[in-house]
Amino acid sequence: MTATGAAPGKVILFGEHAVVHGQPAIACTLTDRGVASTCTADADGPRLDMPEWGQSVRPATMERAVEAVPRAFALALAFVGLPPDAQVRVTMEGNLPPSVGMGSSAAFSVALLRGLAAFAQRPLTDDALLAGATQLEGVFHGDPSGLDHTTVALGGCVYFCRARGDAPSVIRRVPLPAPVHVAVGVTARAGNTRQLVSRLKARAQAEPRAFAPVFDAIGALADEGARALEAGDWPRLGVLFDVNHGLVNALGVSTLACELMVSRARDAGALGAKLTGAGGGGAVIAVCEGEAHARAVASALEGLPEVRAFATALHA
Ligand code: PMV
Repeated sequence: MTATGAAPGKVILFGEHAVVHGQPAIACTLTDRGVASTCTADADGPRLDMPEWGQSVRPATMERAVEAVPRAFALALAFVGLPPDAQVRVTMEGNLPPSVGMGSSAAFSVALLRGLAAFAQRPLTDDALLAGATQLEGVFHGDPSGLDHTTVALGGCVYFCRARGDAPSVIRRVPLPAPVHVAVGVTARAGNTRQLVSRLKARAQAEPRAFAPVFDAIGALADEGARALEAGDWPRLGVLFDVNHGLVNALGVSTLACELMVSRARDAGALGAKLTGAGGGGAVIAVCEGEAHARAVASALEGLPEVRAFATALHA
C-alpha cells in the first residue's frame, strides 16, 4: 500500500523571536512551496529518503542519533503507533530550501506525520498532529515557540501566542479580504535557528531592560498587523513591516545580506520589507502593491549577489 502526506512552507509576517518570549506573532503558509511524503510497504524498511536534503536514513533514537532527521523519523514512527522496525519506506520531496526561514523543518515534520499516520491507518486529529509536530520540531530547534508547525499544520494565515504560565496558547485564523502580494528573497547562507534563539535568550536574560521593551513592541506590532491584514490595508501593513524589521534588527539576528535585501526591496517601491524567520542569513519578505509589482520587486532582489527571490500571493 502507498500513503501520502503533505505540508506547506510558511513565512512569518510579524513576531519572529519575540514569539519565543511569549509575544504574539503572525505567519502564513505558502501556496506553492512545501514538502510531501510518500510511504510504501517495504520489507527493507524502515527507511527515509529526502534527496533534496541529502538524507537517506534509518530511524534512530535520541541517545544514538547525532542527526536530527533519523531522530525525528524514530519519534514519528512511535507517535503514529508504528513499531521501530516497521516495514515502511518514506520518500520525502520538497521545494523549500532548508534553514532559511521558510519553515522547512515544520513542513517536514507535519508531512512526515501525515504520511505515516495514513500508512498506519490512524488518522490524526488537528490536536494530535500539533502534539506530534511539537515533538519533532523539538528535535530540530530545541525550544520551538510552536508558531511554525501550528501554521503549517493548520494552513492559511495564523495569529499565534504560545502558552505562558497559566495562560493557554492563543491560535486564531486571520481572515484576509484579498490575497497579499509579496516578494520573498532568500540568501545562499543558511541560519541556525537553534543557535540564534539560544544566543538571544542569553542576551535577553543578561539585559532584560534592553530587550523586554523590544519584545513588547514587536508583540504590539503583531496585534496591529492582524488589524491591517483583516482590513486589507496593505500600505499600513508595509509600514508595520518596516517597524518590525527595525526591531528585529535590534535583536541582533539580521545580516548584511538581509539588510541589503530589505533596502533593495524598499528602493524597488515595496510598501514595506522585513526579515522573515530566524535570520542569521535567511530570508526577507516585502509587501507589494499587486502581482506585477511583487514580480518586479522579486527581480530587483535577484539582482543582488547570491539571492534567489520569488513573488507569491498569501491567502487566508
Ligand atoms: O527560521 P525559521 O523558519 O526556523 O523560524 C523560526 C522562528 C523563531 O521565532 C525564530 C523561532 C520559533 O520557535 O518561533
